[in-house]
Amino acid sequence: MTALDGSDADILLEVDDLTVSYHMGMRRPPFRAVRDITFKVARGETVSIVGESGSGKSTIGGAILGLRAIESGSIRLQGEDITNAGIKRRRAIARHIQAVFQDPFSSLDPKLTIGESVAEPLTIGARPRRDETLRSVTETLGRVGIGADALRRFPAEFSGGQRQRVSIARSIIRTPELIVCDEAVSALDVSVQAQVINLLADLKADSGTSYLFISHNMAVVRHISDRVIVLYKGRIMEQGPAADVCDQPAHPYTRSLIAAVPVPNVAVQEQRRTARSLAAKPSVVAGDVQDGCPFAPRCPFARPACTTSGDVRLVGVGPGRSAACLRLDEVLRTASASPVIW
Ligand SMILES: Nc1ncnc2c1ncn2[C@@H]1O[C@H](COP(=O)(O)OP(=O)(O)O)[C@@H](O)[C@H]1O
Ligand SMILES: [Mg+2]
Repeated sequence: MTALDGSDADILLEVDDLTVSYHMGMRRPPFRAVRDITFKVARGETVSIVGESGSGKSTIGGAILGLRAIESGSIRLQGEDITNAGIKRRRAIARHIQAVFQDPFSSLDPKLTIGESVAEPLTIGARPRRDETLRSVTETLGRVGIGADALRRFPAEFSGGQRQRVSIARSIIRTPELIVCDEAVSALDVSVQAQVINLLADLKADSGTSYLFISHNMAVVRHISDRVIVLYKGRIMEQGPAADVCDQPAHPYTRSLIAAVPVPNVAVQEQRRTARSLAAKPSVVAGDVQDGCPFAPRCPFARPACTTSGDVRLVGVGPGRSAACLRLDEVLRTASASPVIW
C-alpha cells in the first residue's frame, strides 16, 4: 500500500533480506532457519505467513519481536531501524509491537490474576495510578468480551478460548500498531477459533491495528488476511493478495498446502483430491537441495535444473504478487482454470 503522494508513509513494518540462523554448538555449522525474507506490512493491514511446521514462521515473528538474533538484513518500524535493538530500546518498542502466542497457558502467568496479567504491560517503564489501571484493564477486558468479575480470578479457571481473549486483551491494552499472532487460534476448537478471529477483525476495524498473522492453516489465513506470504524451508515461495494466493495459487507448494486442508463438502473434496493427486506425483529430484529450489524434492513439476540453478528468485505473476519457481510457465499452463473452492 502506498500513500497518495507515492511515498511509503503507510508502511508500518519493513523486513529486508532477513536471515536468521541457529547455532548448533561448536562442532556443527549454524542452521539457517530463514533466508533473505523481504516484506512490508502497511498500517491497518493483515499480512499472514503460512507454511507447514518448521518452515521458519516463528523465527520471523521472533526476530521482529526481538526474541531471535538477526544474522543479516534489517527490520524497520515506522521507518526506524530496530534490528537487534538492545533491551532498553526493546522496552520502548514493546509499546508498538505486541504478541499473542498459541498457548495462553504459557503466556499467562498462572500465579497472576487476570487483572494483574492484563495490567502488566501498563507498568513497563511507567507507574500508572491504580484507579486508572483498573479502569483501563476493565475496559480492555470488556472489548474482548470478558466481564469485570474475571479480574480477581486465575487463568486456570478459564477455558482455552477465554484465556486467549485475555492474552489478546493484554496485547491491546497499550494500543500497539502491530500485533504478531503466532498460531494464536491453532490450539482452539474450530467454533472458538472463529470467535477469536472475528474478535481480531473487530479490533482491527476499531483501532486500525496491523497484524502479522502466523499460521499453518491455509483456510484460517484466507479468511483473515489482506496479503499472504507462503514460506517453505525458510524461503518465500509465493506472496501476494490473499484472494489471489489462496484461490488461484501459483506455486506448486501453495497448491499442496491447500490440498492438505481438510474439507467436509463432497464437491470441494473432489476438487481438492485432483489438486492432491497432482501434489502427490513423485518428484524426479531426490535428496536435499543445497543449490536451487528447496521444494524440488517434493515438487511434481521439478526438473533436474531446479536443483542446480542457485537461489530461485521471486518473479512477478500478477499485481502485487510474485512466486519463486523456475517452472512457473509450465505450472500455470497445467493449473486448472477454475479457482479453488473454499
Ligand atoms: N532455538 C532453536 N534452535 C535450533 N533450531 C531451531 C530453534 N528454533 C527453531 N529451530 C529450527 O528452525 C526451523 C524453523 O523453526 P520455526 O521458526 O519454529 O518454524 P515454524 O514456526 O514454521 O514451525 C526448524 O527447522 C526448527 O527446528
Ligand atoms: Mg511456529
